Amino acid sequence: MTALPATASRTGARVERLPLARYTTLGVGGEAEVWFVSNGAQLAEAVEAPYRILGGGSNLVVADEGVPERVIRLTGPLAEADLTPDPALSSGETVVTGWVGGGVPLPGLIRKLQKLGLSNLEGTVGIPAQVGGAVWMNAGTRYGEMFDGLHTLEIVTPGGTRQVTPDDLAWGYRQSGIPRGHIVSRVRLRLRRSAPEEVLAKMDFADQARKGQPKMKTPGCAFKNPGGVSAGKLIDEAGLKGARVGGAMIAPEHANFIVNLGGASSADVHALLALIRERVGAPLELEYELWPEQG
Ligand code: FAD
Ligand code: EPU
Repeated sequence: MTALPATASRTGARVERLPLARYTTLGVGGEAEVWFVSNGAQLAEAVEAPYRILGGGSNLVVADEGVPERVIRLTGPLAEADLTPDPALSSGETVVTGWVGGGVPLPGLIRKLQKLGLSNLEGTVGIPAQVGGAVWMNAGTRYGEMFDGLHTLEIVTPGGTRQVTPDDLAWGYRQSGIPRGHIVSRVRLRLRRSAPEEVLAKMDFADQARKGQPKMKTPGCAFKNPGGVSAGKLIDEAGLKGARVGGAMIAPEHANFIVNLGGASSADVHALLALIRERVGAPLELEYELWPEQG
């Protein structure tokens, strides 16, 4: 397809047809109309037609055909963080920050919080997400998760904008309780003052658990851990490490990661997911988000 120039929407959002492979950590995915939105008015316009919200693309398997809906990406002020303590909401050791945009990259945010001596989110170190995507699925590790550090969430839908607190949501392991497609546009963080060295020590400890994870293009773990058992261990025990379909492979380092060896298609990844389900006896719940959804 010939590349089309970017255009501006009614409210000034930049709109461009782009390959989503460029925006996913797996490096797979066809074209879609991408809306780069930087304020509430643009976001309100973007949700007037069928849409999807894209974060860091670190949990996505997008079809080679792309998706027909417009794909929203948060930029500008919606990708900036105001970490100044709000005096009306902070007291003693507890700090509630200003607004942090859903489009803020999580790794940089975690580094900044460490330097400021603000604790609660260091357990999420190494997760290559944006804040909105990490909140939406309550991304985490054994050492902590996003909901450890949330005070208020601003949610945008075609029905309007509203604020909720974690108490309003049925959140848990790898789930926020926020319905799919409800956009986390901004959040306020609830943090605890701590010595920067202490926060750094906890980050280093949590990071150790990543040493055995593959370094290639991947959307992270394919399946959630069933009942606390490592899905990676189950897939490994089924003898699937290193199994290959086309350009996709079950990582030899950790069996719950599917990696792109170069030139993987979405069909290659789907075939590996089906192989895992067929070979592992226990029922496994997918952690990857498939665009479009299957079945
Ligand atoms: P995307 O992949 O872009 O989207 C995922 C879902 O979130 C989609 O449904 C999307 O619509 C939705 N979404 C995105 N942004 C928003 C928003 N602003 N509002 C509402 N919904 C939104 N995950 C862990 O939990 N723990 C780990 O330790 C971990 N390690 C990883 C390591 C690697 C190397 C990789 C590649 C991934 C890893 N992941 C891990 C998976 C991934 O980082 C998380 O699932 C993360 O939460 C995805 O966030 P994202 O911003 O990239 O979202
Ligand atoms: N194991 C194997 N073979 C494998 C993989 C793991 O035997 O191929 C064993 C390990 O030896 C270890 C146990 O299983 O004894 C647990 O492995 P690991 O420490 O790697 O943790 P995990 O449960 O497999 C979870 C998260 C990761 C997160 C790490 C570190 C899920 C689905 N996975 O993996 O999150 O980074 O802990 O905290 O919860 C993600 O969600 O995308 C993700 C990468």
